Amino acid sequence: MTQNAKSARRTDDTDGAPRTTGMTLVVTGASGRTGSRVARAAEAAGLTVRPASRATGFDWEDPSTWADTLRGADAAYLVHPSDVGAPGSAEAVGGLARAALGLGVRRLVLLSTRGEDQALPTEEALRASGADWTVVRAAWFAQNLSEGPLAEEVRRGELVFPAGEVREPFVDVRDIAEVVVAALTGGERYVGRTVAVTGPRLLTWREAVAEIAAAAGRPLAYRAVPARDYGEALTGFGVPREEASFLVELFETLLDGRNAHLEDGVRQVLGREPRDFADVVREAAAAGTWAA
Ligand SMILES: NC(=O)c1ccc[n+]([C@@H]2O[C@H](COP(=O)([O-])OP(=O)(O)OC[C@H]3O[C@@H](n4cnc5c(N)ncnc54)[C@H](OP(=O)(O)O)[C@@H]3O)[C@@H](O)[C@H]2O)c1
Repeated sequence: MTQNAKSARRTDDTDGAPRTTGMTLVVTGASGRTGSRVARAAEAAGLTVRPASRATGFDWEDPSTWADTLRGADAAYLVHPSDVGAPGSAEAVGGLARAALGLGVRRLVLLSTRGEDQALPTEEALRASGADWTVVRAAWFAQNLSEGPLAEEVRRGELVFPAGEVREPFVDVRDIAEVVVAALTGGERYVGRTVAVTGPRLLTWREAVAEIAAAAGRPLAYRAVPARDYGEALTGFGVPREEASFLVELFETLLDGRNAHLEDGVRQVLGREPRDFADVVREAAAAGTWAA
């Protein structure tokens, strides 16, 4: 399908569930964990995907790159790096939303984080833009432990993290992607709504690493550290002090027990239970993710 498919846009509600086909969707963070899955799920649903990241010339930090990415699209999935609550995120998301509206791109879905006070101004900036918005508030990704820097730490044998013994319902990013696409193709149903998505089971980080160790067939450890010590360690590894301070504050917020409960967003939107952490672990172990 080409990007001109917008002209073929139609609404089909023959089975009672409005579905927009021929929609062109800008996917920011398209090379990242959620964006890559949103792109795949959107294509599977018949949408035309326009990937957006620095690799395609779109830069959140350079508003002059936004219009070329947005022009002619119908909708956008917004992922703000590196965190939805990072300094400058509210201004960037609000600015991009207003630019999108100015170009006729009204339907915007923002990825946010469940329980993150720092993300609330970003969510509010999207709402205030006047867009047809949906906010998807996600739990910690299960794939944090199978893709990216934490996965590499686990693979080396010990995950050092400031999560204490708090419990978290790790969510599979494929479920996030399917919720995003269902929201985008669900007509008006999810416009103006905030959907919280989690996995189906609460696990401590220690239990999560133990499940990985069992699947990988090797001893792997979890060591809890205070958030401030973690921040010092990050600075020692070259993370700028301002960014490390933000992460300390973020982890102290997110890992204080406020998120130790399940939400039913996946079931509400997709009509099925969320995928379990064990599914991600089984597949990643089979792919050799944590092999020595
Ligand atoms: N990790 C979690 O457990 C969790 C939970 C809930 C919500 N979140 C939220 O998820 C978001 C991160 O999503 P993710 O994990 O899917 O992404 P990710 O895997 O960290 O990938 C980041 C993506 O953003 C792009 N990017 C980085 N800097 C950019 C810039 N200046 N301009 C344009 N694109 C840029 C990257 O591509 P290029 O390098 O090509 O630019 C890449 O596609 C954050 O907002 C975070 O708050 C995370």
